[in-house]
Amino acid sequence: MQAREMQTTKADAPLISPANEAPVVISLDHIHKTYVMGDVEVHALRGVSLQIKQGEFVAIMGTSGSGKSTTMNIIGCLDRPTKGHYFLDCQDLSQLSKDQRADIRNKKLGFVFQGFNLLSRTSALENVELPMLYAGVSGPERHRRSMAALAAVGLVGRENNHPNQLSGGQQQRVAIARALVNQPALILADEPTGNLDSRTSIEVMEIFQKLNREQGMTLVLVTHEPDIAEYADRVVVFKDGKIKSDYRIESPRSASEELKQLPAVDLDDDDDDEDLEIIAAVDHTVPERDRFVRMPKSGTQAPKPVGQES
Ligand SMILES: Nc1ncnc2c1ncn2[C@@H]1O[C@H](COP(=O)(O)OP(=O)(O)O)[C@@H](O)[C@H]1O
Ligand SMILES: [Mg+2]
Repeated sequence: MQAREMQTTKADAPLISPANEAPVVISLDHIHKTYVMGDVEVHALRGVSLQIKQGEFVAIMGTSGSGKSTTMNIIGCLDRPTKGHYFLDCQDLSQLSKDQRADIRNKKLGFVFQGFNLLSRTSALENVELPMLYAGVSGPERHRRSMAALAAVGLVGRENNHPNQLSGGQQQRVAIARALVNQPALILADEPTGNLDSRTSIEVMEIFQKLNREQGMTLVLVTHEPDIAEYADRVVVFKDGKIKSDYRIESPRSASEELKQLPAVDLDDDDDDEDLEIIAAVDHTVPERDRFVRMPKSGTQAPKPVGQES
């Protein structure tokens, strides 16, 4: 068992980690969230207190309905607590208006979702440029930063592909690049590997680990998969709208080491890519029968491939 129970939070005590002197990025202080549906009140969060420091890589776990997404929505300024306070970089965001929250979201946060949430009729490059468009970044700078972000997630040469021309893993990498371009204070990922096979999941976790270890990016990731949580440094477990336990992982799994051990499988994206290039090379203005062969004038010879006529 790699994980060691460091502190089981009773009620609402936040985790205190004397070894880590980094500044606190996220502070949830006795957060409650109640949804009202007709006559019924759903207590999604019942007093959640949690501190996350700069440079931490935290996995949030818990059964379905335990309050993970509600917590992420509050941290991500997509929703407000019914009661309690949320501080991001020491600023109290609990009572901000919708517009103010949108502004914080765009400037300070990067999001990665299970379903990728890419615009389908838009290239990888344009998808990545989008948050900067909202932030008012100039055209050339948008281009430069998007190219760099796509390169950082290993997608050089894929900039002009639309989402349906990319594998699931590649689409999630576009989403991660998009999350990075505004240089956010933290990245929030809700079940980012939920739609991916196990190898591709490890590839995505490798990107997250690199961002965390090499660039000091703060990451909060929701997952219901225990083996995915083991790539993080700390696990917070929710139950019934409360934090049930909060512990550190002494030796997290290393995605890049595991990928080295895996055989080089053709399940990887390269095969699909070749098909895509062939499809992309087809000129649809040419009638189908004329695309690859040119028929000889006399009916006696076999057709020759294009470009090989004498
Ligand atoms: N918009 C909403 N309206 C009403 N109830 C909600 C809403 N969002 C979540 N809930 C309820 O709040 C509880 C926590 O949900 P959620 O945070 O989505 O859990 P998890 O992500 O851990 O599966 C559940 O009982 C869920 O049904
Ligand atoms: Mg959820």
